[in-house]
Amino acid sequence: MTNLLELKGISKTFPGVKALSNVNINLRAGEVLGLCGENGAGKSTLMKILTGIYTADAGGEIWLNGEQVQVQNPNHARDLGLSIIHQELNIIPDLTVAQNLYIGRPGSHTGSFISDAKLVKSARELFARLNMDIDPTAYCRDLPVARLQMVEIARALSFDSRILVMDEPTAALTTRETETLFGLIRNFVTPETGLIYISHRMPEIEEITDRVSVLRDGEYVGTVNTKETEMREVISLMVGREVPADARPKTSPVSDEVVLRVSDLSTRKLLKDISFEVRKGEIFGFAGLMGAGRTEVARCVFGADHRVSGDIEINGRKTSIHSARDAVRAGIGYLSEDRKRYGLLLEQDIKFNSVLTSMETFSVASVLQGRKIAREAEEYVDKLRTRTPSVNQLLRNLSGGNQQKVIIAKWLIRDSEVLIFDEPTRGIDVGAKEEIYELLEELAAQGKAIIVISSELPEVLRLSHRIAVMAHGRIIGTLTNEEATQENIMELATVGQTEANGEVA
Ligand SMILES: Nc1ncnc2c1ncn2[C@@H]1O[C@H](COP(=O)(O)OP(=O)(O)OP(=O)(O)O)[C@@H](O)[C@H]1O
Ligand SMILES: [Mg+2]
Repeated sequence: MTNLLELKGISKTFPGVKALSNVNINLRAGEVLGLCGENGAGKSTLMKILTGIYTADAGGEIWLNGEQVQVQNPNHARDLGLSIIHQELNIIPDLTVAQNLYIGRPGSHTGSFISDAKLVKSARELFARLNMDIDPTAYCRDLPVARLQMVEIARALSFDSRILVMDEPTAALTTRETETLFGLIRNFVTPETGLIYISHRMPEIEEITDRVSVLRDGEYVGTVNTKETEMREVISLMVGREVPADARPKTSPVSDEVVLRVSDLSTRKLLKDISFEVRKGEIFGFAGLMGAGRTEVARCVFGADHRVSGDIEINGRKTSIHSARDAVRAGIGYLSEDRKRYGLLLEQDIKFNSVLTSMETFSVASVLQGRKIAREAEEYVDKLRTRTPSVNQLLRNLSGGNQQKVIIAKWLIRDSEVLIFDEPTRGIDVGAKEEIYELLEELAAQGKAIIVISSELPEVLRLSHRIAVMAHGRIIGTLTNEEATQENIMELATVGQTEANGEVA
């Protein structure tokens, strides 16, 4: 049987980094092949070589249907029937959804300007075909990341490719949208097509793939049949050691002292009378479906969104937070879910990004102390096992998961009383997740008040002392860790949604 695709002897060297060495991977017709590996293992790089973004080092070969091809560039890859959904969103915020879908494609231009009506019409047809409820005329800057991710997925599917690569397509999606995506994948795969699926979420790999190939440190480790393999085994192939299964928190004591008190917070758009307290040493989780308002709560407390009413107290003192700057001064840190938009400066190095929010700690008479910054940045590169040749590496040269680690370090370095982590382990591999959980627990044990928002229920359960479940802009209920289960959280989240909407969500 000829393979749909064969990658043979692929190597790739970047300055100071051997990203891939002699990797061989096959994709069979009609299958979904999982591609797994830790952060920085080389997954995205391999897929960028396949889709013409990078060129492999000499000696690497790409075979399609038994014929060797030289992929020249991304357009050429598309002509060959290869398309990819990138790990980082490729969306221009100031364009509409329809414009983003068709930008740069032949046929989308009439004369020198883009015929909008035509684009909108095609976009409507595409979304209808894919059963997605997205307004083609909306500006992308107004849409939450999950929506944008669906736009990316729609765009990739619209090319009618034979081979589709999805590089962490569900990082910003909730369970329900992931199910929609899996429906689309199952429709896409026919005896003539194949799909490569990259994810750090093992339950997804288990559900959607037929086989899984594993990379470790840029090398090919092996391929297994999904049905005959426990995900535990895939994980140990990835990390080269056993990783403990999801545990419950080591219940550290929480004091009665309230650090953050939010009362009757409302916004014009979504939030209604949000009240909660986070105590010293506590990790307070937020769960809920997409659009429930978890990120909005975080953004309001952080002063990034406007509230129409509500008080925010820190250590019993009322604050007047009206901007992110006020919030940082008041002692609040916020790791945003949308790292590309708010989290980091891609053209700067790890050092600079690490101290971005704590510059004043590192300057004496307004002169930055380079050595001290480098030491601090290095400490966190070690602690979080960030894969990089040095702290002088530019952020854009790091893998997605390793960029996320640098943003986490930034907030760990800045000493805040209240820390809000919105999807802290998005894109982080299974091995490193546990390390991040332990760091958050360490911070709590030091007496900080921590808020964690996560779409992954096992993560909320793993970390939180108490969990607030939101639906449609309200807190429907708060559960202690002992009371909480995936089932009763989902029940609260969906019942709340039904009541608020008058329909089954
Ligand atoms: N343009 C580049 N310049 C220098 N190094 C790079 C570049 N692109 C990737 N790398 C390095 O190559 C290695 C592999 O990165 P890659 O993005 O392929 O990892 P990944 O497996 O996709 O990880 P993740 O799960 O975090 O997305 C990393 O060490 C990364 O820092
Ligand atoms: Mg990647």
